[in-house]
Amino acid sequence: MEFVEVCDKDDLQEGKGKVVNVKGKQIALFNVNGEFYAIDNKCIHAGGPLGDGKLSSDVVMCPWHGWEYNVKDGSTVFNSNLKVKTYNVKVENNKVLVENE
Ligand code: FES
Repeated sequence: MEFVEVCDKDDLQEGKGKVVNVKGKQIALFNVNGEFYAIDNKCIHAGGPLGDGKLSSDVVMCPWHGWEYNVKDGSTVFNSNLKVKTYNVKVENNKVLVENE
């Protein structure tokens, strides 16, 4: 499994998310209490950018129409079978790295 460096750890504060690029793929990266989580950036409703959504604890709200996802497992809050893909994340030497498949 290959990991790709996406940003400095300090670039993403607790309670925030952002869109990062992993070899051409857009991934939404979040910092929940110092732990980093990565999911597909594309909302399954109509493609809204989840990395730009508002994060509350471990739930992000899509900025387009408000679908909510748990960033730890990618599931939508209203249907745990409906999910976006999640990616493994690790932090090394103050850098955040996301799994590339
Ligand atoms: S595109 Fe995300 S809620 Fe509609």
